[in-house]
Amino acid sequence: MQEIVRKLAEKRAAAELGGGLRRIEAQHAKGKLTARERIELLMDSGSFEEWDMFVEHRCSDFGMKDQSIPGDGVVTGYGTINGRMVFVFSQDFTVFGGSLSEAHAEKICKVMDHAMKVGAPVIGINDSGGARIQEGVASLGGYADVFQRNVLASGVIPQISLIMGPCAGGAVYSPAMTDFIFMVKDSSYMYVTGPEVVKTVTHETVTHEELGGAVTHSTKSGVADRAFEDDIDALLMIRRLINYLPANNRVAPPYRPTPDNADRTEPSLDTLVPDSPTKSYDMKELILKIVDDTDFFEIQPEYAKNMVIGFARMEGYPVGIVANQPMVLAGCLDIKSSIKAARFVRFCDCFSIPIITLVDVPGFMPGTSQEFGGIIKHGAKLLYAFAEATVPKITLITRKAYGGAYDVMASKHLRGDVNLAWPSAEIAVMGPKGAVEIIFRKERGDEARIEELTNEYRERFANPFVAGRRGFIDDVIMPSQTRKRICRSLALLRNKKLENPWRKHGNIPL
Ligand code: COA
Repeated sequence: MQEIVRKLAEKRAAAELGGGLRRIEAQHAKGKLTARERIELLMDSGSFEEWDMFVEHRCSDFGMKDQSIPGDGVVTGYGTINGRMVFVFSQDFTVFGGSLSEAHAEKICKVMDHAMKVGAPVIGINDSGGARIQEGVASLGGYADVFQRNVLASGVIPQISLIMGPCAGGAVYSPAMTDFIFMVKDSSYMYVTGPEVVKTVTHETVTHEELGGAVTHSTKSGVADRAFEDDIDALLMIRRLINYLPANNRVAPPYRPTPDNADRTEPSLDTLVPDSPTKSYDMKELILKIVDDTDFFEIQPEYAKNMVIGFARMEGYPVGIVANQPMVLAGCLDIKSSIKAARFVRFCDCFSIPIITLVDVPGFMPGTSQEFGGIIKHGAKLLYAFAEATVPKITLITRKAYGGAYDVMASKHLRGDVNLAWPSAEIAVMGPKGAVEIIFRKERGDEARIEELTNEYRERFANPFVAGRRGFIDDVIMPSQTRKRICRSLALLRNKKLENPWRKHGNIPL
């Protein structure tokens, strides 16, 4: 028996060593942690149970017969984050560059299948040279098996990707289909073809980092949701993100008691909106002042900054926040911000997270680049997402809500449950100046008359009471009372039940 125990310990030690000390040192020298070190940091201490430690590849071509490393380049299993079950796979770059063999893919598929069965999130840590070149099509089949599971799991369990090394070619499409992608600056990159191929095909000279680094994807392409300084930072933030998410689409998001009183008033909000309609203010200040414990977990903070999205809690319950940011492009809706918010709204709706929409929007962004880029189709995504969502929807108009953008931003007409406005709200087809210039075209040139008409228009329409008279706004509230009113509305809606008509699936404009 002792001999068997000794052999088991040896086998485990061999698997735990991955590609060996030399390669582990090389990994550390690049500022990266190993696959197992990452799991240690991600999971609650001692909670990780590894599976398939002894799986080996089945390839015998190109000298692979004599080269087998137990585990085959990916560490898989399950454990807890703050006591809540999650599944994980972590690619081990020290073993064949973390490349994906048929066996490696089978290990990933196994944890995904179990996660679906028991209803728990999957976190994938990507650090891989791509398809195992020696295996050819078997490896490509493995990718597709993972993709298929990503799609079936979408909207059923949360799926989160961490990119902590290379992720290129077909490999990018598994993370691309997950709910959130976090990247690490200077040590991770994602692209469909690398700088060498780019040089050959388009004659552009570009570095790995410029083409597909964390900064590129979190500021330019919007592929990544957050970029972090190092592995530790990214892993700890995933632990924070998981705290807001339910384990699956059939359970409620996790409640966490808070000392922050739901009735708390915030007098400073009464002066947040400046007197001049052209002056901006920071919508994030409003968010931080109304959520529990000033704790807001922003998603895509550096991309399409005219829209702010992220998670927070109100009275202990997770909420998704969607807010126009008047400080950037005056809070206009454009292609990027519409797509950013639409995907977030759909995530919240999949996972029963109520949506709080904070509106200060002067309209859609004009211009040829927006029209040629398809703002009609992309703006429709946000409209579609809000209209289809059945989770509790609470909307607060702080200032401008003009034109079609008023309709889009979770208006009453899109089944908004509770629609509130501050006294500073202006709900109209457009701003007073633009409106007067169009309807009183003949008066042009007569500045005094134009001013008089503009003031008249402002008096009549640029306020929340016209919408209030029709019931499009349920109440006009004092800004200082915002937290209290939203918490009460959320409590009212806690058992909301609303179903869309049966269909195979809708046809959201893509
Ligand atoms: N298949 C098999 N082995 C791979 C591999 C792959 N796709 N990618 C990397 N490896 C192996 C390397 O042979 C090397 O093995 P060794 O430690 O025994 O020498 C090890 O992984 C590390 O690779 P290395 O090239 O030394 O690391 P690097 O940090 O300098 O470069 C990459 C990383 C990913 C840029 C580079 O390995 C690469 O270009 N890989 C191929 C990418 C690719 O074309 N994949 C297939 C299409 S998706």
